[in-house]
Amino acid sequence: MDFQKLVLHRYSTRSYKPDEIPAESLNAVLEAGRLAPTAANRQAFRIMVLRTKGAADRLLEIYRAEWFVQPPVVLAVVSLPRESWVRRDGKNYSDVDAAIVMDHMILAAADLGLGTCWIGAFDPDKAKTNLSLPDEAVPVAFTPLGYPADEPTAKKRKSLDDLVLYDRWK
Ligand SMILES: Cc1cc2nc3c(=O)[nH]c(=O)nc-3n(C[C@H](O)[C@H](O)[C@H](O)COP(=O)(O)O)c2cc1C
Repeated sequence: MDFQKLVLHRYSTRSYKPDEIPAESLNAVLEAGRLAPTAANRQAFRIMVLRTKGAADRLLEIYRAEWFVQPPVVLAVVSLPRESWVRRDGKNYSDVDAAIVMDHMILAAADLGLGTCWIGAFDPDKAKTNLSLPDEAVPVAFTPLGYPADEPTAKKRKSLDDLVLYDRWK
C-alpha cells in the first residue's frame, strides 16, 4: 500500500475476528520489527508472540479488555535497557527503540489487512510474572494482532499549524 494511504488506513482496532493469521503474514510483521532502527543498532529488545488460545485468563490479567484476547495472537515488545544505547547525559533509549519496533510492526500489520491496538495501560507486574520475564527485561508495549471486526472512525488530530514549529520554539 502507498505509504500515505497506509498511515491514514491504520487505526486502533478494538474488536477482532478469531481467524488464524497466515504464517507468512505473522512472519512479515515480525520481520518489520526486526528491521526497525535502534539507537547505535543495539537491538536491545525482544518480540514476544503470545498465543491467546488457552491463555486468555493469563493475558487478561495483563490488560483487562475483552478484545485484547479475541485474535489468535498478542505481540509484546520487551526492552533490555542494560544493553541499550545511553546518551552522554544518561538518557537510556530503550523505550524509544521499543516504540519504533512496535510502530514498524503495527504499520506492517495494517499493510496486510491486520488490525492492531497499541496497549500502554497494561499491568507491568502481571506482565513480568505471567510472561516469566527476567529481571532485566522491561515490557514496553503490547498489541493484539488479528483481523478487524470493526471499522475505522475518522482520525482526530491537531493541525500541522498546531504541531509544527520552524527553526525556533516561538
Ligand atoms: C503509546 C500508546 C499507548 C496506548 N495505549 C492504549 C491503551 O492502553 N489502550 C487503548 O485502548 N489504546 C491505547 N492506545 C491507542 C490510542 O488511544 C490511539 O492510538 C489514539 O487514540 C489514536 O487513534 P488511532 O490509533 O485509531 O489513530 C495507545 C497508543 C499509544 C501510541
